[in-house]
Amino acid sequence: MCGIVGYIGNSPVVETLLESLQALEYRGYDSAGVAVLNGEGVVIRKRPGKLKVLAEILRENPIDGKIGIGHTRWATHGEPTEINAHPHTDCTGSLAVVHNGIIENYAALKEMLSAKHHVFRSETDTEVIVHLIEELAKSYPIAEAFRLALKELHGSYAICLLSKQSPQRLFGARNGSPLIVGIGDQESFFASDVPAVLSHTRRIVYLNDKEVVELSSQGPHLFNLEGKKERLKISTVKWDVAAARKGGFPHFMLKEIHEQPSAIEQTLSGRLDATRGRVVFDRRLKSFLEGLSSRQRLVIIACGTAYHAALVGEYMLEEFARIPVDVDLASEFRYRGAMLDSNTTVLAITQSGETADTLAGIRMAKSQGAKVLSICNVVGSSIARESDAVFYTHAGPEIAVASTKAYTSQVTALALLTLYLASLRKRIDAQKRRSLVEGLAKLPQLVDQVLATEASIKAVSARYASCRNFYFLGRRYNYPTALEGALKLKEICPLIHAEGYAAGEMKHGPISLIRKGWPVVFIATHSPVYEKIISNIEEVRARQGDCLVVASESDTTIKRHADSLMTIPRTHEFFSPILAAIPLQLFAYYVADANGCDIDQPPNLAKSVTVE
Ligand code: F6R
Repeated sequence: MCGIVGYIGNSPVVETLLESLQALEYRGYDSAGVAVLNGEGVVIRKRPGKLKVLAEILRENPIDGKIGIGHTRWATHGEPTEINAHPHTDCTGSLAVVHNGIIENYAALKEMLSAKHHVFRSETDTEVIVHLIEELAKSYPIAEAFRLALKELHGSYAICLLSKQSPQRLFGARNGSPLIVGIGDQESFFASDVPAVLSHTRRIVYLNDKEVVELSSQGPHLFNLEGKKERLKISTVKWDVAAARKGGFPHFMLKEIHEQPSAIEQTLSGRLDATRGRVVFDRRLKSFLEGLSSRQRLVIIACGTAYHAALVGEYMLEEFARIPVDVDLASEFRYRGAMLDSNTTVLAITQSGETADTLAGIRMAKSQGAKVLSICNVVGSSIARESDAVFYTHAGPEIAVASTKAYTSQVTALALLTLYLASLRKRIDAQKRRSLVEGLAKLPQLVDQVLATEASIKAVSARYASCRNFYFLGRRYNYPTALEGALKLKEICPLIHAEGYAAGEMKHGPISLIRKGWPVVFIATHSPVYEKIISNIEEVRARQGDCLVVASESDTTIKRHADSLMTIPRTHEFFSPILAAIPLQLFAYYVADANGCDIDQPPNLAKSVTVE
């Protein structure tokens, strides 16, 4: 999704904006641009393509200045061309705007403004914003014109405005799309996300919907849409710059795969009572879960990888806590007339906390009286703020488009919730609970052991790097692992088509494609359905398919059934989706790398999907 930045201070603005935009590259984009205010007025440079194209133009035609805005665009209205790239300007060229989101009433506004002789150059919805401000600025001071324009907009936005009339101030606002303010020493920033400002400051203001900010180098002033001043809440983030950079790995994805032991440790931190063999939560979560335990239904909503975590959660919660669980894709949930009431708990799972469909899903759930819990990574994100209770995974910033550590920490969070609820509902005996709590405590160490097999996974990946179609099959807890393994591969390696299925479904269709050499990845770790999955492997081999199997390292018989092997330590089935996901992440990574793919920013994908 689009990334927006703004800067006011004493440093050279172009370098600062480019550095911040670079830190937002993970959001996905297809064009980039900046607007700077200096003695010449508002000067714009923008180009389709990657930031380095823009940087080159700026090197050839530099712009001086101390105040400006910047943008990386992920096209929604209009193709990724130079004209459609942001910033967009008004008719006189004295206002410039960058925007993330979608203005739903842009057609009506465009018609109204065109009738007043505004000339539109782009096909974007964004351009109406700047002309609307221009129109209102004929009657009002610029700050007020900005605020009044916002009141006319329907849809989602994070906006930054640069104005020639106001050379000492930048303006920003959000509604449904993320925007933060960074407060530095004699300098201030707008950004879509914290990594963009981390090398300058850790003092952050997370804006709420319908908040408007006037930013000077001395810091922000906050208002609501009625122009009433509001109190600023400044948070200090703990992430450091290194955490938001590659740390010596060639890609963020590989770095984040390797961060999983510490990410899981963070998710577990303070939540395990080893002495009493139980899970413990803070007061707020505890009281929410007491309510959940007595409500009749749990509906889990999520998108993409987080949806796969939700499916694992369904197996865990139903088997151990004996709570009826439905899992829904947030994009379906919000439109299918789901039946909810005050006896329903909706659990939203989201790394970013900004996914548009998940956010809309929780809003709908709340409007029907359901209570909302979220499992979320990004502190202060929209979904976290709008939930009745939040379980933060604390996995640290996830920059690569392909989610890895966020996924395993979401599943870890679900395991913690399951054991807590199982205990609360008296569905688990103390001995079993203790043994699973001990298993949870050992997880970071087991994940380390899987990571230690990286070289052999890399070698296996080389064998399959030229294949163009894959099946991924699993059963029970590792059916979602199969879905996740397939998603990882197809999202970072666009040359490949990969499909995940429940292995028991093979005979109902997918098996028709199996022929000599067709690669099928099986998850065949120890479980009550181990024998069944061995039968599924044999069915593929009987048709000369090539079976790559993720198995327990203590399994001595599996070699007879597998063409290639990746192993994980033997563990209770309850934990196996966490461990089995890791070889599949590494497999996808090395296959994509061997194919020369753009691993951290695959084409057509965005890290955080903030439009539906
Ligand atoms: C895949 C991936 C996406 C996200 C999905 C939900 O690797 O990252 O499928 O899982 O867009 O995002 P969040 O978790 O931020 O709501």
